[in-house]
Amino acid sequence: MGSSNANKGYDVRDLKLAERGRDRIAWAERDMPVTRMVRERFSKKKPLEGLTVGACLHVTSETAVLMRTLKAGGARVFLCASNPMSTQDDTAAALVKYERIPTFAIRGEDSKVYYRHLRAVLDQAPVVTFDDGADLVSMIHKDYRDLMPQVRASMEETTTGVIRLKAMAKDGVLGIPVVAVNDADTKHLFDNRYGTGQSTLDGILRATNVLLAGRTVVVAGYGWCGKGVASRARGLGANVIVTEVNAIRALEAAMDGFSVRPMREAAKVGDIFISVTGDKDVITREHFRLMKDGAILCNSGHFDVEVDVRGLEKMAKHAKRGIRDSVDGYQLADGRWIYLLGGGRLVNLTAAEGHPSAVMDMSFATQALTAEWVSAKRLRLPAQVHKVPVEVEEQVASLKLASMGIRIDRLSPEQKRYLNSWQEGT
Ligand code: NAI
Repeated sequence: MGSSNANKGYDVRDLKLAERGRDRIAWAERDMPVTRMVRERFSKKKPLEGLTVGACLHVTSETAVLMRTLKAGGARVFLCASNPMSTQDDTAAALVKYERIPTFAIRGEDSKVYYRHLRAVLDQAPVVTFDDGADLVSMIHKDYRDLMPQVRASMEETTTGVIRLKAMAKDGVLGIPVVAVNDADTKHLFDNRYGTGQSTLDGILRATNVLLAGRTVVVAGYGWCGKGVASRARGLGANVIVTEVNAIRALEAAMDGFSVRPMREAAKVGDIFISVTGDKDVITREHFRLMKDGAILCNSGHFDVEVDVRGLEKMAKHAKRGIRDSVDGYQLADGRWIYLLGGGRLVNLTAAEGHPSAVMDMSFATQALTAEWVSAKRLRLPAQVHKVPVEVEEQVASLKLASMGIRIDRLSPEQKRYLNSWQEGT
């Protein structure tokens, strides 16, 4: 698939889609004032001059805005998809045609093409990389070890990627410096919570058009994403049940006013199930067996391993694909139907457009400024998992507040002294 373009130095579905993609990117950019400000500075100062950047991210209009920013900073930029189902083919075409950014991404590409696209990016020998799920870093460690000494750092966008990278560091196999951009407050507090919260429900609604008011929505996982999903579902009038494995998070959910139960109990009463755990086998055959006729299942965690799709396929006596866009139906032996959205992949990206631009603005401004930090000539980071510098986070938050017209108070010198001293008490 799509290989006709591959030897032209890019691989997208159809360049004729480029104009629509350009409009889409411009629309996203309107809502990304912080990234725009960073780009203006980058185009004057060129902090990434001469660097080759390889990015494996969801190929969406917001990512396009980040790619333009990195290019404005002087980098040679190459992009491939971090998920075969989230690519916007028109955005990919616009990046190639109007931005001259070689892009390798076709919505629906199979795993052979997916990995060929990753290799196409790594073949450019990038010195700075971006991942959403650690795929480039994994491939560097497997097949491109010769690149390791030259990689200044790799930025990681998502929780699941950071978990993988920390596991590699713990096992002593991490061979390049990485920065856990996901862990920056300017990323996960906003993107995971408000971005995933809104866009996950957006995906469910676009796919099914169900009424949430009065329905029982089961949210598996009460992390940053789960908090957002649960609170937005409640806002639309759903009765929300949270399932957890972590006692503190479960307690937090209970005190936030949600019903907390094991999945085995929730399975019997839920109308809509949403997994956002980053874990595998969260909703499995033992749960399908208990579900009501017409139960709807979806996942917004990074990998498609949270709902046991294969188990559902095996269990069903009859499957009907594409009942609506992004909806497959599975009929069990006793006649009950269970519906799966987006094939069990990230529902906010498969059935909707991913996070709104305004929230990606913060994540991607954090990414761009972190790329500037790792590219500083004198900086040599060791091969560990690093935090985003606090100055970057402060800058992103201040610029975002300014763009929203919000002003805040400042500490007086006396207050600063007071807050830093241990001598002054009651
Ligand atoms: P987190 O680590 O803050 O929360 C995950 C929660 O799931 C934890 O509280 C954990 O105790 C719980 N959990 C783990 N196994 C469980 C199980 N079997 N049953 C019930 N709960 C379980 O992670 P965060 O930031 O909320 O991310 C969750 C997932 O969403 C990750 O895979 C992340 O990469 C992904 N993600 C997806 C986005 C999207 O656009 N859809 C955006 C950002 C993150």
